[in-house]
Amino acid sequence: MTDDRIITIVEVGPRDGLQNEKDVISTEDKLRLIELLADAGLTRIEVTAFVSPKWVPQMADHDAVMRRASRRPGLLLSALVPNEKGAAAAIAAGAQELAVFASASETFALKNTNCTIAESIERFKPVLALAKAHALPVRGYVSCAVDCPYEGAIPPSAARGVSERLLEIGCREIAVADTIGRATPERIDMMLKQVIKSVPVDQLACHFHDTSGQALADVDVALEHGVRTFDSAVGGLGGCPYAPGAAGNLATERLVLHLQHTGFVTSVDPAKLRAAVAHTLPFARR
Ligand code: HMG
Ligand code: MG
Repeated sequence: MTDDRIITIVEVGPRDGLQNEKDVISTEDKLRLIELLADAGLTRIEVTAFVSPKWVPQMADHDAVMRRASRRPGLLLSALVPNEKGAAAAIAAGAQELAVFASASETFALKNTNCTIAESIERFKPVLALAKAHALPVRGYVSCAVDCPYEGAIPPSAARGVSERLLEIGCREIAVADTIGRATPERIDMMLKQVIKSVPVDQLACHFHDTSGQALADVDVALEHGVRTFDSAVGGLGGCPYAPGAAGNLATERLVLHLQHTGFVTSVDPAKLRAAVAHTLPFARR
């Protein structure tokens, strides 16, 4: 087995998966979900977001979730943070990786974070400085890398430009996102062709929502480009409260099986993952 067949999955279910749920999900339920995901072999889990509780009430228990989440060797617990305040709180609570989020669409940047793209990059600089002081890696998301719920199609050059800025300020990994899950494999191909001109492919991850049922086809395109890190959410939960029409993330269980069937290897045991999927069913039904 060559390293080229090994895929890293970043499980975003406890954060992206749950942030959009209307009913309050208890901290205990979130912690149990994280434990089941770790049991299933996931090695990178985005466990919560240190964002404003006024903007995303579902993540208001970020401190308790991060402090109490299951810690084990080989497991990296990550926190989404919008600014220095969030980064400081996440680090104090024991985050092992931070993720900042920029957008290739100006309108989405304003709707989601109340600032322009350029202002968001400025806000991230102190986050990167704090992370460096604590020797923590930082991932940078590029939301709306292909489509924006407000502006429509986004030119690949815009996704490339924001990716470059995030690399310049010190992000170790760039995660390009189809936030509303309406891209086609052809448009993902065009976007990746551009982004790869600026981001080394071993520092690139893809984050696909699955609104149109195209996410696995998008994964195949990204695999052809050499991408080996993919985000997904257990049970296909997910969506962004500030991206109308964004349905769930690509389901981790579908991604794992698809990769297995196409000759790739992950750290995830599909049988054990079923327990985590079962745990999400009551949330999905609400
Ligand atoms: P703002 O209102 O402009 O912030 O929001 P502000 O700096 O003016 O502060 C206003 C209040 O928020 C103050 O409190 C601050 O202390 C507080 P007050 O004095 O009113 O009591 N505040 C915070 N509280 C907790 N944690 C913080 C924080 N920062 C300020 N970190 C802000 C700006 C960025 C904070 C806000 O817009 C926000 O929290 N946005 C987050 C939206 C969000 O979480 N969206 C979903 C995640 S992104 C996503 O899903 C996309 C992704 O999955 C990839 C993809 O699919 O595209 C990653
Ligand atoms: Mg997302």
